[in-house]
Amino acid sequence: MAHVPVMLPEVIQALQPSDGETYVDGTFGGGGYALRVLDAADCALYGIDRDFDAISRAEAISEKQPRLIPLLGRFGDMDALMINAGVDTVDGVMLDIGVSSFQIDQSGRGFSFMRDGPLDMRMGQTGPSAQDVVNQMTASDLTSIIRQLGEERQAKRIANTIVAHRKDAPFESTLQLATCVEDAVGGRRGRKTHPATLTFQAIRMFVNDELGELARGLAAAERLLRVGGRLVVVTFHSLEDRLVKQYMRARAGFTAGASRYMPEAAKGPDPSFELRQRKALEPSDAETSTNPRARSARLRVAVRTAAPAWIEPVETGFRLPSLELVEAAS
Ligand SMILES: C[S@@+](CC[C@H](N)C(=O)[O-])C[C@H]1O[C@@H](n2cnc3c(N)ncnc32)[C@H](O)[C@@H]1O
Repeated sequence: MAHVPVMLPEVIQALQPSDGETYVDGTFGGGGYALRVLDAADCALYGIDRDFDAISRAEAISEKQPRLIPLLGRFGDMDALMINAGVDTVDGVMLDIGVSSFQIDQSGRGFSFMRDGPLDMRMGQTGPSAQDVVNQMTASDLTSIIRQLGEERQAKRIANTIVAHRKDAPFESTLQLATCVEDAVGGRRGRKTHPATLTFQAIRMFVNDELGELARGLAAAERLLRVGGRLVVVTFHSLEDRLVKQYMRARAGFTAGASRYMPEAAKGPDPSFELRQRKALEPSDAETSTNPRARSARLRVAVRTAAPAWIEPVETGFRLPSLELVEAAS
């Protein structure tokens, strides 16, 4: 099934495509945002994706639309990718965080517990897969991942069941893991969602270092955007929206310790962004009624000021085990 872009009119309104400008779409996916931007103005757009399949789609489109320039890589490295491409500032950056429908719908990619397939979940097709993670990590590391990234209350029980299960037979498929999690929590018992939903989400986020990438991507966009450049970020998960919100508020000078009475309390460097609005934009009722996937979408927009980019790295706020401990078997 094609990927239906979420909050598309709001994203275009926030980016304000104009003739002669240059944009980065850090999550090209099916090109839903990118193509609309290219239609809206006589601009250039660099479409980054870490997934070979997304970049092949972009390459096919760019044969007819040369203002689209596909780049294979991670958006966490977008400033380096762009400098390699000979561009040192841009007018706007879009990020649409998460997986695409193309990725979820392909059983061979292993993202979904609804379809049996190899337990892979890598967006970028390199490095350790979900199978390597569940077969190699200790119960305590798996607990930490499932608890923090899945916010799953039964994380420890699930991790222990995974470790007991793999002694008999290592995990190879999505359905094996989904059934194991279901057994660990004692079946579906009136749950609205599949009992493996949060565990799959946590392992996917860990395998792809999704929060680390988001943190690096925000900082890279800050270095790349010109004065007045727009940063437009759509998230689907509260952990990700919180990271974007805290980053934008901090960079816009809303520091936690400062108040009306002690404005200097936690003064950092000069604000590198101005906020368009303090609250995230949400999808319209009309959109959520036709596309339920849009329900959790949150859009945040910030505009680059003339202040230098901050040197402080963006913290995810999580202490996760290292993915480097896991050996890639395939
Ligand atoms: C939700 S989809 C984007 C859909 C796109 N906006 C559209 O309208 O078709 C997210 C895409 O971002 C890619 N992606 C996720 N994290 C990435 C990262 N750190 N670097 C580059 N691409 C990433 C995924 O491979 C996926 O193709």
